[in-house]
Amino acid sequence: MERKTTQISQAEVERQLTLCDDICRVTGQWADKPLALVDTYGCQQNEADSERIRGYLERMGFGFTDDPEQARIIVINTCAIREHAEQRVLGNVGALVHTKRRHPEQLICLCGCMVQEKHVAEKIRQSYRHVDLVFGPHALWKFPEMVHTLLTQRGRIFSVADEAGSIAEGIPTVRQDGIKAWVSIMYGCNNFCTYCIVPYVRGRERSRAPEDILEEVRGLVAQGYKDITLLGQNVNSYGKDLPEPMDFSDLLSAVNDIPGEFLIRFMTSHPKDATHKLFETMARCEKVAPVLHLPFQAGNDRILKVMNRRHTIADYLAKIRDLKSLIPDIVLTSDIIVGFPGETTQEFEDTLKVLEEVRYDALFTFIYSPRVGTPAASMDDPMSREEKLANFNRLTALQDAISEEKHAAYIGKTVRCLVDALSDDSRYDLTARTPGNRLVRVVGDKSALGQFKDVKITGANKWSLFGELA
Ligand code: 5AD
Ligand code: SF4
Repeated sequence: MERKTTQISQAEVERQLTLCDDICRVTGQWADKPLALVDTYGCQQNEADSERIRGYLERMGFGFTDDPEQARIIVINTCAIREHAEQRVLGNVGALVHTKRRHPEQLICLCGCMVQEKHVAEKIRQSYRHVDLVFGPHALWKFPEMVHTLLTQRGRIFSVADEAGSIAEGIPTVRQDGIKAWVSIMYGCNNFCTYCIVPYVRGRERSRAPEDILEEVRGLVAQGYKDITLLGQNVNSYGKDLPEPMDFSDLLSAVNDIPGEFLIRFMTSHPKDATHKLFETMARCEKVAPVLHLPFQAGNDRILKVMNRRHTIADYLAKIRDLKSLIPDIVLTSDIIVGFPGETTQEFEDTLKVLEEVRYDALFTFIYSPRVGTPAASMDDPMSREEKLANFNRLTALQDAISEEKHAAYIGKTVRCLVDALSDDSRYDLTARTPGNRLVRVVGDKSALGQFKDVKITGANKWSLFGELA
């Protein structure tokens, strides 16, 4: 197995763009306007990958649709993090067999983390024969080449070889939003937490060159983007693999120095690599949003050890205290897994203690889901589903109460928020985000969309805040 990450040359990316132009000449001859449907599951990294798939498709001459009946090409970008995500994808892909029967010329493509798992790729090969193209995250950069082959030769293509991964610069993007943008700063993960499939499907950690990242952010700011999230599975280890090592805090400072009015966010951070220097940098850089997503997964040291998290709860809490002393109004969020193999209810209760101490603004909570090939999948897991669910419900009930209290404390305050969307709830005109990314449903003039505005907070519940433009 190749274990070195590679840089895809500029000439290779240019070749892909030339193939897009060749395809564009073909799609231009079609009787109907060529339309593509891109459906994305999972995390922001997948959203960012789908923006590049759309970028390539646009260059091939495609417009976009949400209707599978209208689409000449369908791309489903999948997630492997939990079983539920995989079941949903398989259900939806299965249903496309009928669509394809009605439109035999349709190309059905499956990409993303799930198809990088060997047993899933095999299942698609055997039982989902209407799928034409299957490619893992490592092969995304050569999507045009694969579409070109399918359009000229037909047949099926599977590009899911196991590799350490690569970096390709210069792939076009079509972004979904004009206000918020994702910028991948690194790919892959080296941590091998024992429950997690990501290192197996997304390869080793590799960092983009700082100048490429800074150029992308400068371009986004020039286009009017106001909220930029730097993405990576573990952004705190950014730069360790660069020829001239640069750490994540230095990158944050450099992004902060880009002129313009915009907010910088980042995710995800690993507690073992979150440093005092990072917290100081966050406190000093005025554009860095006062929010940190710092997953601790479980509150018990024995469980953390079996999870291979490589930190203790005491280390974690010391870091949180340090951060709170530097940024008292920091908004904190975390990921938690309930029901990891062998976790007892008593050990689970240590997770509740962390919630009481840290008082997160919001949590992303999951019941453990075994992933084929990870060490945890073969560990003894005696606790019943019902008991896990009961613990899970205790966790969410506690967090709901904390979120509600924290949200209530905003009432009466005026907060400078980014107005990020028109409201889909007719009682409000707009939605906005506090600097800490709490959702605010706002009454006010719709012309404020895309701007930073003072919002008077008039109400709150456990999910969101309510207010009016001041
Ligand atoms: N089961 C449940 N949750 C998981 N996560 C990762 N792998 C699993 C799994 N096998 C959660 C972790 C991670 C988040 C993105 O998903 O909490 O931080
Ligand atoms: Fe998965 Fe752990 Fe890497 Fe996060 S840090 S992607 S949980 S292996």
